[in-house]
Amino acid sequence: MIGADCNICDGVFIENDVVIGDRVTLKCGVQIWDGITLESDVFVGPNATFTNDPLPRSRPPSQQWKPSARTVVRCSASIGANATILPGLTIGANSIVGAGAVVTRDVPPNAIVVGNPARITGYVDTAHPAFEEPHVAASRDNHRALHVAGATLHRMPFIKDLKGALSFGEIGQHLPFEVKRYFVIYDVPSREVRGEHAHYMLHEFLICLRGSCAVALDDGRTRDEVALDSPTIGLHVPPMVWRVHYKYSPDAMLLVLASDLYRAEDYIRDYDTFVRLARGGPAPTVPAAETQSS
Ligand code: TYD
Repeated sequence: MIGADCNICDGVFIENDVVIGDRVTLKCGVQIWDGITLESDVFVGPNATFTNDPLPRSRPPSQQWKPSARTVVRCSASIGANATILPGLTIGANSIVGAGAVVTRDVPPNAIVVGNPARITGYVDTAHPAFEEPHVAASRDNHRALHVAGATLHRMPFIKDLKGALSFGEIGQHLPFEVKRYFVIYDVPSREVRGEHAHYMLHEFLICLRGSCAVALDDGRTRDEVALDSPTIGLHVPPMVWRVHYKYSPDAMLLVLASDLYRAEDYIRDYDTFVRLARGGPAPTVPAAETQSS
């Protein structure tokens, strides 16, 4: 099935069990095998290669292998020239796969991935606010609004003398909510991406006590990426903000202060559901707690 207004260039091969949406561009030399779905507005660069057999062998025609899991390229994703996509993966909406990348894992929505194996290097249309930037409004109590709704970056008090360095925060003055729980993330293999969820009701305050990591925030309309590379920088992530932590240095130790106890029901783990709610779907309500762990 091929949608309307597609741009299919010379030397493109399209097999049978294929779904291609509207306004898809397939540049020269692309082969779309059985088991591949390209949603609307996808761009596939010259000679990008889709694979559909995880264990390819030469087989007689009577034993031809059929794909079990589909490869799905979601709306508005772009795949660069000569990239290779392994079978059964989902390339998230609006993501970008760099030229020549070898994609071995699912690509999250809006992510930019490059290399072999492909790794996330950033997120599209993302601002990188820091304290120095003039467009980030300064306030007297040393916190600044980010582009993402309700998120703020805080400069924590810092005292350094001959005995060493000390930083602190007090609820009400430096911390924007009462803390009921903390957790610490450390020993993260640097390639790993954590987070990838939003909360219905929970506030979190992140401080990277050692090393560094990056936090990408998304309120369903705008995106920020913040580098946490000092124990004197705090990041307030309010409810209904999608967050991803990545680019962990090997020594990174991320302290997270939370406004409530751990409740699995408070998590939104599906990005499409999050965007629908964040853009004015039904008012966010926390699903009823079945159990509450401490
Ligand atoms: P999870 O939130 O999935 O981590 P991340 O989003 O950073 O990848 O948490 C991993 C596991 O830890 C999960 O099984 C729930 C458990 N957990 C708790 O029991 N209490 C907590 O306070 C947190 C944050 C996690």
